[in-house]
Amino acid sequence: MTERVETMISEADVDRRIQEIGEAITRDYAGKSVHLVCVLKGGSFFMCELAKRIDLPVSLDFMSVSSYGGDTKSSGVVRIIKDLDDPIKDKDVIVVEDIVDSGRTLSYLLELLNDRKPKSLALCTLLDKPSRRVVPVNVNYTGFEIPDEFVVGYGLDYDQRYRNLPYIGVVRFDEVKD
Ligand code: IMP
Ligand code: MG
Repeated sequence: MTERVETMISEADVDRRIQEIGEAITRDYAGKSVHLVCVLKGGSFFMCELAKRIDLPVSLDFMSVSSYGGDTKSSGVVRIIKDLDDPIKDKDVIVVEDIVDSGRTLSYLLELLNDRKPKSLALCTLLDKPSRRVVPVNVNYTGFEIPDEFVVGYGLDYDQRYRNLPYIGVVRFDEVKD
């Protein structure tokens, strides 16, 4: 078997879309500060690019939860690996994620963060696979809705690899004939 990555969304298209989302957040939160909560590790590339395109006072924090092992299927188990450094009470919080798939991770996380009484809580995801949803999640900003394919790049991994690709791709496995 050989492995190759086929481009699904080009670097230019991803960058253009992040610019648009940054502008939308800048408009929607005019006069306020936004507190971005990055869901590690996948959300980190998107959050950095997005933060640069928000023309408002921005603060950042990071959280890590587990939902997948070294597999492409959801285990359904959500566990906090690393909690936020700072309280979010009375802040305008935007959770920044790489992808919403089954929705299990985000529905759990949003409920947990909501209990900490932020002034507002929104969700911004680079990718959404709506056809895979098991638990409903209210997404406020979506980069791209994509079909049910396992994607990598821009923070997304396959067994911890490919996060550094500057575009979104699909891993294809080819049989090697000899
Ligand atoms: P959910 O809880 O099923 O919505 O899963 C969300 C998490 O699963 C994401 O934050 C990703 O880390 C991971 N995930 C879901 N789909 C993909 C994919 O296509 N490629 C890489 N990671 C994925
Ligand atoms: Mg992940």
